[in-house]
Amino acid sequence: MAYQNLLFETEDSIAVITINRQEKLNALNTATFLELNDVLLKIQQDGSIRGLLITGSGDKAFVAGADIEEIQDLSLEKGVEFSKLGQGVFSLIENLGKPVIALIDGYALGGGCELTMACHLRFASDRSKFGQPEVNLGLIPGYGGTQRLPRLIGRSLALEYLLTADIISAQRAYEIGLVNKVVPSEELLDTGKKTLKQILTKGPVAVKYILETVHRGLNGTLEEGLSIEADHFGMACATEDMKEGTRAFLEKRKPEFKGL
Ligand code: COA
Repeated sequence: MAYQNLLFETEDSIAVITINRQEKLNALNTATFLELNDVLLKIQQDGSIRGLLITGSGDKAFVAGADIEEIQDLSLEKGVEFSKLGQGVFSLIENLGKPVIALIDGYALGGGCELTMACHLRFASDRSKFGQPEVNLGLIPGYGGTQRLPRLIGRSLALEYLLTADIISAQRAYEIGLVNKVVPSEELLDTGKKTLKQILTKGPVAVKYILETVHRGLNGTLEEGLSIEADHFGMACATEDMKEGTRAFLEKRKPEFKGL
C-alpha cells in the first residue's frame, strides 16, 4: 500500500512513522487512520522492527487534531464509527508489543494529544503545545482522551484541561507528567532513537511483558494487576534470555539477548 498521508522508514530495527499532511497541520482524517492501521499491522508482524517512533511533518505541528472539516457533518452513528476507528488504531499502538515513543514538535491538540498518550513514552520539543480543545467545538475527545489523560496526569488536572480547553506548554506538560522529556527541536529525533536503542539492549521478551503488564494492570484492580504481574514474571523466568541475563550478571559481562 502506497501511503498518501504518512511517511514510513526503518533503520537499525527502528521504524519511524511521520504523519504527513503538513498543509492541514497533520490533522487526522479517515484516510490517515486507515493508513496508520495498515502500517502498524505491518510493524507488529515484522520481527526485524523492534521499536517505533511517531512524529509529525513540518515544524509547526505534531498533529492538530481530528480533521475538523471531515467531522463537521458526522451523524450520531457516523460519530460513533469515527471515534471507534481512531480508538482502534490508537489501541493498536498501545498494544503493539514493541516500545513506541511519540516525538512532538509543535501542536499536539485533540486527536494529536490523544495519539501521544497512546504511545508508551512522549518526548517534546520546548516549543510544543498540548491540549484537548474539543469542548471549544461543542465536542468531547473521541480517541481515548477522556480515559488516558486522567490515567496519565490524574483526574483533577485532566478534568481541568478537558473542561477549559487550556493549552499546556511543553514545560507544564513535563511538570504534570504528560511528557517524559523536553528537548530542543533539533535534538528530538536523536533523543528518541537513543532511548529506543537503549531499550533494545534489554531482554525483548521482558520489554514486551512490561508493556503488557503495566497496560493491563492499569485497566483493572490492583489484585488483577498483581496476578498478571506474577504470571508474566513466571513466563519471563522460563525464557532463555532470563537465564542469559542472570548468568551474564554473575559472570560480569554484557548479556546477549536473543528474544527467546
Ligand atoms: N482539522 C482540519 N484542518 C485543520 C486542523 C484540524 N484539526 N487544524 C488546522 N487545520 C488547517 C487550518 O484549517 C488551515 O487550513 P487552510 O490553510 O486551508 O485554511 C491550516 O490547517 C493551518 O492552520 P491555521 O489555523 O491557519 O494555523 P494557525 O497557526 O493560525 O493555528 C492552531 C494553529 C493549531 C492553533 C489552529 O489550527 C487550531 O486551533 N486547529 C484546531 C485544533 C483543534 O481544535 N483540534 C481538535 C479537533 S477535534
